[in-house]
Amino acid sequence: MIHVEKRIDLAIAREALPGTVAVVMTMGALHEGHAELVRTARRAADSVLVTLFVNPLQFGAGEDLDRYPRTLAADLALLEREGADLVFAPTREVAYPDGPPLVRVSAGPLGEVLEGASRPGHFDGVLTVVCKLLQLTRPDVALFGQKDAQQLAGIRRMVRDLDLPVEVRSVPTVRESDGLALSSRNRYLSAEQRVSALVLSRALALRDVEAGRALVHAEPGVQLDYLEQVDSATFRSDPAGDLLVVAAQVGRTRLIDNVVLAATPPAGG
Ligand code: PAJ
Repeated sequence: MIHVEKRIDLAIAREALPGTVAVVMTMGALHEGHAELVRTARRAADSVLVTLFVNPLQFGAGEDLDRYPRTLAADLALLEREGADLVFAPTREVAYPDGPPLVRVSAGPLGEVLEGASRPGHFDGVLTVVCKLLQLTRPDVALFGQKDAQQLAGIRRMVRDLDLPVEVRSVPTVRESDGLALSSRNRYLSAEQRVSALVLSRALALRDVEAGRALVHAEPGVQLDYLEQVDSATFRSDPAGDLLVVAAQVGRTRLIDNVVLAATPPAGG
């Protein structure tokens, strides 16, 4: 496995990768969810390229940019184990040599609802860095987790709307055995908060907006932000939508989760 930090080294190593290339983009602090993306990438292409970059553009003022976990040595060990071929871990200066970019990708209406409403500018920051990393890595396939369903919808829409030459594939959410969706932010949770956080996946399992909200409201130490049924492509609220999404604050930690609803056959059909 080759680990590079500079653009020139990435360009040279990327050129030398054999066959088709799958990319997995991450902010590091890797866990089994990321590992599953890498394993899926292994099956999807001849070569696997992973990016590690905590993108300042997608963090709002007062969010956790400064305390976001940075575990480079452990991340590289995991990627080596999972069979990544090339790892690109740029510094902020390498990623944004001219400072914060003046021209950015806008997520449009999708960037303004739910996660986007609570985190203004977040999805513009995500799409801008994803677009840059796609240009720098030029993959055939890019893999993203279903865990971040609104991010996935935004990336799919960007690829369509801007004709980016890449195939986007999603990977199902990896969970702990008790149902908690894996997240780099789970390591912020105390033992007690870790138990409270289970209410998110339990609420989704009810497959019902009102019952789910009531369950989260009843959990001490958990502040519900939203629990909505949405269309997974537009993220507009939709009583017939195919996705249930939830976000809540557990202490200082913001957690999100979602579940894909089985398509209900039309009445009488
Ligand atoms: P990060 O939170 O590190 O996640 C990297 C990728 O791993 C994303 O595609 C995310 O959806 C996926 N992932 C995270 N937890 C998962 C889980 N439990 N199961 C399956 N997949 C999971 O998402 C980002 O980074 C950033 O926004 C990024 C796309 C890298 C742009 O900065």
